[in-house]
Amino acid sequence: MLLVAGMDADSDATPGEPPSEASLHRPVLLHELIQHLQPADGQTAVDGTLGAGGLTAALLARVGLSGRVLSLDRDPVAVVRARSRFAGAGDRLHLVRGDFADIERISAEHGIDAVDTVALDLGLSSEQLADPGRGFSFRLDGPLDMRMDPEEDVPTAADIVNGWDEADLAALLRGYGEERFAPAIARAIVRARGRAPLRTTAELRNLVEAAVPRRHWPRRIHPATRTFQALRIQVNHELESLRQGLQAAITLLRPGGRIGVISFHSLEDTLVKNTLHVAALNCLCPPQQPYCTCAHRASLLVLTRKPVTPGPAEIADNPRSRSARLRVAEKLAP
Ligand SMILES: C[S@@+](CC[C@H](N)C(=O)[O-])C[C@H]1O[C@@H](n2cnc3c(N)ncnc32)[C@H](O)[C@@H]1O
Repeated sequence: MLLVAGMDADSDATPGEPPSEASLHRPVLLHELIQHLQPADGQTAVDGTLGAGGLTAALLARVGLSGRVLSLDRDPVAVVRARSRFAGAGDRLHLVRGDFADIERISAEHGIDAVDTVALDLGLSSEQLADPGRGFSFRLDGPLDMRMDPEEDVPTAADIVNGWDEADLAALLRGYGEERFAPAIARAIVRARGRAPLRTTAELRNLVEAAVPRRHWPRRIHPATRTFQALRIQVNHELESLRQGLQAAITLLRPGGRIGVISFHSLEDTLVKNTLHVAALNCLCPPQQPYCTCAHRASLLVLTRKPVTPGPAEIADNPRSRSARLRVAEKLAP
């Protein structure tokens, strides 16, 4: 493993051949994110979703030689790849394998008690989607795994589709996939696994294609998109991580510091929007109550009344960006 001064030696992943920078994941809304966050010389920034490191590179450039960046990813492959990409960053960059839900603990372990910038670019990287062995893509055949951290001891997608009862599967597909045909897909899964356990992404994709009547296939997405999304969210407890990570990030920001979150589906965006909104309120008492009895005080000012979305040029250039939504808020003084 390549180790660099100032970087953490806590990843035990197998290093892979680093891809060239040109072929790496292309960060979405990067320009808009940096413009809103305004990271400046000498400051401390957190990139909670390192991925291929495009945003980390931009943050490093902005905080300069006297600033520092803490970048983390649950995926050990991302961290190993970044150790090689950022070999020259020295002790300005801490690369950590971890969940952004634990950002307060991880920051403290690195001697950081407050930060100026927190950025979260949610979802998967192109590298994760393109690796059939990870099981994220219905376009490539691979094991039904879907763990962002392949060493995390949690039920995989295969464990869920082969182990959960039909009603729970339907509730999962409905709740986390917003899938209209959840009951039909859950029924088809239970029938199929009665013959043999489901093991691969292609088996699941084919089964969903057969379960959703062709006249009801969505026009812009593959019919298995929502099923795969639901399983991925469950396997990686993504919404719990996001809920915890947002609260932790708000606590960690120093007054005047900013948080920016890019989400890719409505469950994430709603959670981000509501969390920032509640943190920006001065009172949480019911509206009919004549006077305030809660101790809640606003800790944030929301800077994006509407989410920032990519323009037509970015969508044409990088179709993956089309569902992206950026929300930004600034920490208020206590
Ligand atoms: C869309 S990619 C980020 C791309 C990155 N901004 C870039 O410029 O390449 C999302 C990354 O976040 C990671 N991730 C998702 N949820 C996470 C979490 N709760 N904690 C840490 N990393 C997470 C994924 O493993 C993935 O590598």
